[in-house]
Amino acid sequence: MRTLKNLDVKNKRVLVRCDFNIPLNKKGDIGDDFRIKQTIPTIEYLIKNKAKVILMSHLGEPEGKVVETLRLNQVQEKLAEYLDLSITKAPDCIGKEIEKQAEKMKEGEILLLENLRFHKEEKENDRSFSKELAKLADVYINDAFGVSHRAHASIVGVPKYLPSGAGLLLEKEVKILSRVLEEPWRPLVAIIGGVKISSKIKVIKQFLEKADHLLIGGKIANAILIIKGICVGRPWPSEEVAKEITKFNLTSTKLHLPIDAVASPDETGKFYVRETGPGRVRKDEKLFDIGPETIEVFSKIIEKAKMIIWSGPLGRFEEPLFEKGTKVIAEKIAKNHQAFKIVGGGETISALSKFGLREKFDHISTGGGAMLEFLSGEELPGLKILEK
Ligand code: 3PG
Repeated sequence: MRTLKNLDVKNKRVLVRCDFNIPLNKKGDIGDDFRIKQTIPTIEYLIKNKAKVILMSHLGEPEGKVVETLRLNQVQEKLAEYLDLSITKAPDCIGKEIEKQAEKMKEGEILLLENLRFHKEEKENDRSFSKELAKLADVYINDAFGVSHRAHASIVGVPKYLPSGAGLLLEKEVKILSRVLEEPWRPLVAIIGGVKISSKIKVIKQFLEKADHLLIGGKIANAILIIKGICVGRPWPSEEVAKEITKFNLTSTKLHLPIDAVASPDETGKFYVRETGPGRVRKDEKLFDIGPETIEVFSKIIEKAKMIIWSGPLGRFEEPLFEKGTKVIAEKIAKNHQAFKIVGGGETISALSKFGLREKFDHISTGGGAMLEFLSGEELPGLKILEK
């Protein structure tokens, strides 16, 4: 893979794809800035080597429209704080005005482009959008490991038009995770949860083959339970998700789904919260966390593991009433001193910060879906393009 250190960046405009897709809390403030901090070494390297740095990222799912709450203003503030430098923020990511701004840049300056996903062309991997982005710079760097499983314009389109390479964070992630992929310690336990079903559902089949145990919580567990004919108070999954689930060996002894859960009619637990079996959910109730028996079964498996890979909270941990599953499982993993522990993804990192357990893990990956896809043996499009 070509890397930043193989490229001459002196006095060049370097366009860096970062993953500043940080969790935002209910008020819209930054919930956790781990992903921002992790890109600092690449930016500092570029500044030290006299480059003109242009940063770009997506944030959330604005679906091709400008969404005021998803502007990168808070990212600009955090970057300025960590780098102790002033950062100029562009009003958009492409267009004549932005090109002029980029042309005027001097060595050591930093320009942050606006949310890439304000343009639907980013996710469509549109060729002219990629060219417009490429026009802004002389060199392209991918430092967004967390998005490298997406064949989007800023990941696979732009490097077609510029000399390109991996940033320091991307290089580090690939180095550490490759070791895990090549020599997994057994028993290998994978834990998958969270809300992004479509990206994670793809890797379950592979983990059922590679791992010794696969523990599932969150929305993905609900979707599988529904397909198994168990009522969880949630709608039938999308056709795409249902199709993927039918490819799994749902009777595999490696697969561990919740056997009980925490149910409530309301996500704030305002009316009542109760523990129940997934099949015994009342009309109008929904599941918000795994229950105590599931915690016990999962904990016993975790205790014996030699390697643990985790992405995706097991319940709605943001609400204290539904945090127990994620919290206790995180504590059990932390207590297993013999295992190599890897965790990834914005929400999961945020949960670990909330419970003060971040430093108990051996590697915290900035990627959630990307980390799982990489570890399942899939080729990530964003990495593949840097090999060419
Ligand atoms: C992530 O949060 O995993 C990455 O930023 C990718 O985001 P996406 O799932 O919205 O593409």
